[in-house]
Amino acid sequence: LSIPVIAIDGPSASGKGTVAQLVAEQLGFHYLDSGAIYRLTALAAKNKGVSWADESAVASVAQYLDVVFEGARIILAGSDVTEAIRSEEIGSGASKIAALPQVRLALLARQQAFSMQPGLVADGRDMASVVFPSAVLKVFLTASASARAERRYKQLIGRGETADLAVITADLEARDARDRERIVAPLAQAQDALLLDTTELDIQSAVRQVLTWWRQKI
Ligand code: C5P
Repeated sequence: LSIPVIAIDGPSASGKGTVAQLVAEQLGFHYLDSGAIYRLTALAAKNKGVSWADESAVASVAQYLDVVFEGARIILAGSDVTEAIRSEEIGSGASKIAALPQVRLALLARQQAFSMQPGLVADGRDMASVVFPSAVLKVFLTASASARAERRYKQLIGRGETADLAVITADLEARDARDRERIVAPLAQAQDALLLDTTELDIQSAVRQVLTWWRQKI
């Protein structure tokens, strides 16, 4: 029996994580936050003193990643890193190590293992193109750069962190450029993916649209 997968790809802070999680909840499906896997690898490398530029060393860190998902908490080598992986520094490190082919290869099977009955909603950059090419529904979820920067800004302020909109905008742009321009699995709308622009759309409407497309597919 094949396992139904919904692949949701898009740039940073487009809202794809929130939308994917809510869709998974509605359908009773499993959820894969593939960005978290890249973030965990970046953090694990940093903790081990491995340079983010050392491809084979980071690939080895990726291969032996000691991670446990306990509900919403993420445990790396015995420590709760749920918040630690969300920092801008680790996000930026994740996008650097994500450009290394050996690292992506080392993380492939780990991501595919999330596909279990009754189904999976997976969000990332290459869910539709590389990790789950036979996904039943593929969505490319995006929003304007300024809308995304503003969302990330509010998220950081909401967490009680200090944030500077200009710095966030520059950081998002740098990260998106790196994700789009890399040789392996670049961020791009798959040719069979449906485009969902959330610049003027709230989360609930975006979730409803994905669920509508899903019902049309099955
Ligand atoms: O989505 P998130 O911001 O958590 O992802 C962090 C970084 O991990 C991204 O900027 C991207 O470079 C990388 N990533 C990736 N492929 C994925 C998910 C994330 O390259 N499927």
